[in-house]
Amino acid sequence: MKKIVSLVKRRGFVFPSSEIYGGVEALWDFGPLGAQMKQNIKKEWFRRFVQQMDNVVAIDASILMHPDVWKSSGHIENFTDPLIECKSCNSRFRADHMIDGRFVGQGEAKEPNQCPTCGDRDFTQAKQFNLMFKTFLGPVEDAAHITYLRPETAQSMFTNFRLVQESMRQKIPFGIAQIGKAFRNEITTGNFIFRSREFEIAEIEFFVKPGQDEKWFDFWVDAWEQFFIDLGLKKENLRRYEHPKESLAHYSKRTVDIEYKFPFGWGELAGIANRTDFDLKQHEKFSGKNLFYHDEETGKKYIPYVIEPTLGIERTMLALLIDAYKEVEGGRTTTTTSIKETEVVLGLAKHIAPVQVAVFPLLKNKQELAAKAREVHNLLKKDFMCQYDEVGAIGRRYRRQDEIGTPHCVTIDFDTLKDNTVTLRDRDTMERERIQIEKLREKLHKEFYA
Ligand code: GAP
Repeated sequence: MKKIVSLVKRRGFVFPSSEIYGGVEALWDFGPLGAQMKQNIKKEWFRRFVQQMDNVVAIDASILMHPDVWKSSGHIENFTDPLIECKSCNSRFRADHMIDGRFVGQGEAKEPNQCPTCGDRDFTQAKQFNLMFKTFLGPVEDAAHITYLRPETAQSMFTNFRLVQESMRQKIPFGIAQIGKAFRNEITTGNFIFRSREFEIAEIEFFVKPGQDEKWFDFWVDAWEQFFIDLGLKKENLRRYEHPKESLAHYSKRTVDIEYKFPFGWGELAGIANRTDFDLKQHEKFSGKNLFYHDEETGKKYIPYVIEPTLGIERTMLALLIDAYKEVEGGRTTTTTSIKETEVVLGLAKHIAPVQVAVFPLLKNKQELAAKAREVHNLLKKDFMCQYDEVGAIGRRYRRQDEIGTPHCVTIDFDTLKDNTVTLRDRDTMERERIQIEKLREKLHKEFYA
């Protein structure tokens, strides 16, 4: 984990938020490469579950909602974690994360039942702490104007159910998808971007006929797991976790998590919940508006059941970085013996890597080479995320790109000036082939999009 955290900071993937002020606990900024990688994950998710599915449509709803939404959804009453406090040093912990007297993932205590911060053993009684961030709508800061930053994107899919179904003429089964920010005032944080207070969720509320919910639940567990495998995660690092009945969220009939084997242990990457008709019924009750579905074939009206597959974008990104990280002792080059150091290769899937193609002139100070390399760079950047690099020996430049997972490098050398060919190098095999510049775009298109 330490190596990943250091690599991603050094290479511009993730920075502590407000770093010049010392950072803020559990808030992160995504640098140029991190922002691009997140974008690629979201694009792939959208392509798979919205573009390629005939019965899923997407929305982009506001983060702040009518305060009553959170009353009807049950979040004001139930979106809580049990908090206990050390009476000596006032450190706060999640009581439900104490297993056999130790706070899992919340610091190391020497002995069981000790505070991991000061070692004392005297804690307050657990009290329920609501995780939603409070704010005010408008300039008046009184109780009537309180609302919350959304802790999940789901609720706006329920409040928009009717509008989406009618405007898009959707027939059940159909889904509403959304990617967006969610905010949770987590009691305990840590493990880098795994648990933060602001993060992005990609989720679908899939509306089905009651009685068909269990079949669709199984469909979504399989589809969700396959998505992670296709993003490049190794199957052996994934597992399914069935929530026992007593730990289900207040809205759920069944929940299965997809977990990833993080360096700090198995952790939730995603979940699939059977939310039944809980949310739509609650919103009917509180808003006074009908939210039933009229089945034109049978003439019957019913409140649909909802299957909700959900995943965290940052957790997905962290798992992909960990899974892709490889160290090669002594380096991978066999042709030279001069540099024998540890090489890092980030074997990200091609469609997820933040830089797709790097373009190098063989030598920086030869104007003809640099001009030709700029020409190739300008040509490729129309279709691909490219980086131009002319600094240092070519081997070092390859290694810089390997470290951030760039699948292909293109080198312009003296032969290019004679015959218009370049060297195309593959990150994983390190094989190099000579190719005509005019065939480069087509070749790379096949590599990335075939
Ligand atoms: N609408 C259902 C829902 O929000 P959740 O399991 O509470 O379900 C969805 O959250 C996903 O968001 C999780 O599977 C996880 O990947 C991610 N997630 C949850 N809390 C997070 C946090 N504090 N930091 C980063 N990601 C988080």
